Amino acid sequence: MFATMGALGLAPTAQAAPHETPFRAPRTGDFHLTGRAAARVVVIGGGIAGLTAAYELGKAGYDCTVLEARDRTGGRNLTVRGGDTTTDLQGTRQTARFGDGEYMNCGPARIAQWMVTLDYCRELGVPLEVFTNTNADAYLYNESAGMTGPQRHRTAKADVYGYVSELLAKATDKGALDGELTADDRERLTEFLKDWGELGDTLAYEGGERRGYTTVPAAAGTPGVPLGDVPTASQVFSSGVGRYFSFEFGFDQAMLMFQPVGGMDRIPQALTRAVGTRRIRTGAAVSKITDTGGGVSVIYTQGGRTRTVEADYCVAALPPNILARIPHNLGPGVQSALEAITPSSAAKIGLEYRSRWWETDHRIYGGITETDQDVTHIWHPSYGFHGERGVLIGYYNYGSDADAYARLTPKGREERAVAAGVKIYGEKYRTELASSFSHHWRQTPYLEGAWHNTPGGPEALRYKPLNEPAGRVHFAGDWLSHTDAWQHGAFTSARRAVTALHTRVLAS
Ligand code: PHE
Repeated sequence: MFATMGALGLAPTAQAAPHETPFRAPRTGDFHLTGRAAARVVVIGGGIAGLTAAYELGKAGYDCTVLEARDRTGGRNLTVRGGDTTTDLQGTRQTARFGDGEYMNCGPARIAQWMVTLDYCRELGVPLEVFTNTNADAYLYNESAGMTGPQRHRTAKADVYGYVSELLAKATDKGALDGELTADDRERLTEFLKDWGELGDTLAYEGGERRGYTTVPAAAGTPGVPLGDVPTASQVFSSGVGRYFSFEFGFDQAMLMFQPVGGMDRIPQALTRAVGTRRIRTGAAVSKITDTGGGVSVIYTQGGRTRTVEADYCVAALPPNILARIPHNLGPGVQSALEAITPSSAAKIGLEYRSRWWETDHRIYGGITETDQDVTHIWHPSYGFHGERGVLIGYYNYGSDADAYARLTPKGREERAVAAGVKIYGEKYRTELASSFSHHWRQTPYLEGAWHNTPGGPEALRYKPLNEPAGRVHFAGDWLSHTDAWQHGAFTSARRAVTALHTRVLAS
């Protein structure tokens, strides 16, 4: 009875993940039980969406061929290690010099617990570890607000929460909220604020241990020396540090978050193995897509030779900005929808250091320093703690900041990123540097974007031609999901296309 109530939504059920449409992967039984033959499918794009489509369809015995224009699968899921070489659209060639075991995730780098990405990691045996997305000991730095050095996240938070609590508690005390709250509510609110903001009995914020210490508490005789002067409320608000604290509330950014051990590309590597490398053609750039009515014909070039794949169906799992430039006969609705979606810039630089001075000197183990500099975010590595070397992400920036760095040489990018970091961390940011590697998505061949801007959202009427098949071509990608710029979007979009395709094949 309890289970029945659960199914009716009247009692909690054992179902853990609240994923709206439960996905049922195609099975071989779907075919031999109905006397049908599995169809041939050509998948364009070997990123997360394309690989997932081939992987899921492959479970039922579909004959899939994946065409990937780049020399490796994964798409924007790109991990760079020592020896890896890239050439961007400007012709800039870089080879990473990172030491053994060191890497940078140029694209996706964090996974929330609710994301389907983790289900694929479980299914494919990709080991995980915690990714530290927020860290009380990482820094905040707002130069434009007059900060001359960094502040710990915890210190800024204590001050901001403290003064906001003080003001609200005093307003409540003066009767400003009498129209909103009962006397009991006001008392409870005040109790909460005293605790939340570490207020004294006079409802004043006067600092406290949450801000941190110059000498930490230790043995008897060392009670700890609290951080110096507590700033005034006015100073705290004008520093602008409060703007950073809503980030950790985000549904997609809240701790705990995770990363694959050894690099994010463990995911496409595992998918690639599961699909079978014989089904995947890399260096295969598509030049024409034709729906022939009874099938799909895809022309591509590989190693200077032009070839054709004939299939019953196609899953187009490549970026919309790239697909828009490939001749096809899928209709003007498809084309104008593709053209309405525009790619965005984002970039990262990996700075490899000879020592992990951020751990030894600053006591920062993972997490992100937030800045108002053009480097935007500085990431401390969430792996290799206490190791000899380490790779910081010296910038993770977007839009015009990413574009400005893209215009520089790799050396110029490094110098500019290091100059910003020195202001926050001091000279070791320069003197301990061993090597760097920078990556810009707008300048990356066959991708030309970090993520996409889809005016009106993916379900706006103008994108209808992409959310349903165009003849025998189905579309998939994070850019067609409500979680653009996350692998979760690519996985779920691929599942949606697989379900639509398989349902259609079973009905044909
Ligand atoms: N998923 C990317 C990241 O976590 C891009 C993104 C940033 C998406 C912030 C949503 C919010 O960096």
